[in-house]
Formats: sequence, C-alpha cells, structure tokens
Amino acid sequence: MDTRRQLIADLPKAELHMHIEGSLEPEMMFELAQRNGVDLPYADVEAVRAAYSFDCLQDFLDLYYRGMSVLQTEQDFHDLTWAYLQRCRHDNVVHTEIFFDPQGHTSRGVAFATVFEGIWSALLRGEAELGITSRMILCFLRHLDEEDALRTLDEAEPFLDRIIGVGLDSSEVGHPPSKFQRVFDQAGDRGLKRVAHAGEEGPPEYVREAVEGLRVDRIDHGNRSLEDPALVEALVKMNMPLTVCPQSNLRLAVVKDMAEHPIRRMLELGLHVTVNSDDPAYFGGYVNDNFNALVEAVDLGREEILTLVRNSFEASFLPEVERAVHLAAVDEHATAYQ
Ligand code: ADE
Ligand code: ZN
Repeated sequence: MDTRRQLIADLPKAELHMHIEGSLEPEMMFELAQRNGVDLPYADVEAVRAAYSFDCLQDFLDLYYRGMSVLQTEQDFHDLTWAYLQRCRHDNVVHTEIFFDPQGHTSRGVAFATVFEGIWSALLRGEAELGITSRMILCFLRHLDEEDALRTLDEAEPFLDRIIGVGLDSSEVGHPPSKFQRVFDQAGDRGLKRVAHAGEEGPPEYVREAVEGLRVDRIDHGNRSLEDPALVEALVKMNMPLTVCPQSNLRLAVVKDMAEHPIRRMLELGLHVTVNSDDPAYFGGYVNDNFNALVEAVDLGREEILTLVRNSFEASFLPEVERAVHLAAVDEHATAYQ
C-alpha cells in the first residue's frame, strides 16, 4: 500500500461532522423497510445507489429525508449507529461527535426518546466494546421555523446531560443563521456547545452570522468563507475550526472536481480545517476514503495529513487531558512513519 494510504489507515482520528442518518447504507435501508413494513420507491439496492446523483444540496436532502423514514424503533437507531461504529473501527476513528436530526423523526411520529436512546445505547456499546468515545450533537433543521427548533430544545430537556451541543443543518440558502438566534442563545444558556453548517452553499455572510450571532464553537463546511479575505483573517485569528467534507463537496457540486478542492489553500491560509465524511452512505465513503480522495486528487502530503488529523482532536469537544492523550498517539505514529 502507498505509504500515505497506510499512514491514513493507521492514524487514530476524530470525526466531527457526520450525520448519523446519513450513514444509512442502502442494504440497511432495505432491511429496515422490510422489518417495519415501509414501501420504498426503489426496486433494489442498486436502484438506490443509482438514484444518488445530485446537482445540489436540496437534491440530496430530498432522498435523505425519504431514506430516514425506515428508521422507526429504538432498535433501528441502535443498529444504524452500531453499523457506523464498525466503520469507525475499520477506519481507526477513535472519537466521533455525531449529528442527529430529531425533527426528521418526531415529524413522522417517532418519539424523541426512541431516537435518542437507540443512538445512545449503541454509543455506550461502542465505548465498552470498541473503545470508541463519542458525543451527540442535536441539529435543528433550518428549513423549519425557529418555533419548531425551540419546541425541539424543550423536548430534549430530559436528555441534555447526554447532549454536548446543538447544530444547524438542512437547506442553507434562504435560511440564515440569524433565523435561529433565540434557540442558539437558549442552548448557550443551558451550557451547550454550538456549531452550524455555514458557507456550504450559502454566502460568507452566513459564516459571519454563525460566528458573531450564534457564537459557534465550530463551522461545519465553511468553504465559501474563502470568498471573503477579511472573514478568513478573522477565522484564522480566532482559530475557528472548519469541519470540511471533501466527498460531500464533490457530490453536492460545492466543488466541480476533487482536483479543485481548496483543502490545501485552507491549510496554507492557516485555517483550522478537519476532514470528515458528512453523509458517508450517500457520498461514497467514510473518513479514510475522504483522506484518500484528497491524496489522489490534490496529492495531499504526509505533513498535511498529520495536521488535519491533529486538528480533528484539537477541535473536538473532548476534555483537554483526553485531547492531549490522542495528540501524543498521533505524534507517536508520525515518528514511526518518518
Ligand atoms: N444534512 C445532512 N447532510 C447535510 C449537509 N451536507 N448540509 C446540510 N444539511 C445536511
Ligand atoms: Zn453536514
């Protein structure tokens, strides 16, 4: 194996941008549809994969919401999460901070507790059996109104001691971060971390709003920040992490070609970028696939790989001592792969 592929495979990594519903592989979609008596508009697994051709974020979201309708019981959410954790083990992802979209389920009559406990029990099992640590981030769907998000935060109240933070996802353009000012303020008052998708399809102004208005701890994606040099300078100064998702960017036409992916430019500008899979079942791969795609397309080098992996732990919501342990392990690997 190419030494960079080997390095990527062997390095312990953290994943900070992965929607658990986006890890629903077509095989499991069919299995759960059968288990729950749900009709799918696809003949077979191949037909599902063939449908995964997107021109923009909304194209993808339409299939993503349809796909998640097979998730109905606590066991379904457990199985989904457990399957993702197996992929983490395969990729040597030792810590993961996963997004979940409760409104995508409660709107279909699935209780918040069903979603939460199913995911949670798998994460506990992941820590016990695989040694993978994790956190949960509750995302608000931005195409819905803020009242719905506020109700969701209230519903989450009994679970907040097991939720590290809130996020903002779904259709970006036309739904600026400022629409969610009150619910993010309330989340902050409750001691929750805050992240938001911004600058994926939306303008740099949305990134500014997320940083200055929502006071986020990380920006998810953030690609379009590059259009605004003053914003880039501010992000660098505050060491704001950007959780970048290369294969998602390609599949959703945020970049035309992987060879044009701005990951190197971001690193050279001093941005605190990390590599993540976003919706791995829909975009062609998990974390290591995303790193390997960059090696292939932009000749990502050893030092760049190490920086991106170090960034993943530094930008995580782990306590300082745990981050330090992971960073020391990365350094050990770096020495071994001179
Ligand atoms: N929900 C799941 N994946 C998403 C993405 N890449 N952007 C916005 N919302 C999402
Ligand atoms: Zn995302």
